[in-house]
Amino acid sequence: MAVDRCVCENLTFTQIRAEARRLGLDSVRALQAHGLCCTGCRLCAPYVKRMLQTGQTSFDPILPPDLEPLADAPPTRDAATAPRVRDTRPSSRDHETG
Ligand code: FES
Repeated sequence: MAVDRCVCENLTFTQIRAEARRLGLDSVRALQAHGLCCTGCRLCAPYVKRMLQTGQTSFDPILPPDLEPLADAPPTRDAATAPRVRDTRPSSRDHETG
């Protein structure tokens, strides 16, 4: 799924780019100051920055650089060594007598 908008402001990058050009805004901070993006979670910031640099308005998701190695990392535990979680939910046997 492509990333194509600031979800918090509910504006597409196409709309934000048009407003940026109309108002002469050329930085993420300026767009933020005008309430066009990056006003909430700020997850759109790297995409908006790239939009300003390239004009592109739809992106493949960008993973933070520190998370990318995890995709290739082997699992740290296997099922044989993983701690077992005890099921503490009451069962029908808890009500049996005798
Ligand atoms: S998606 Fe842009 S601030 Fe949350």
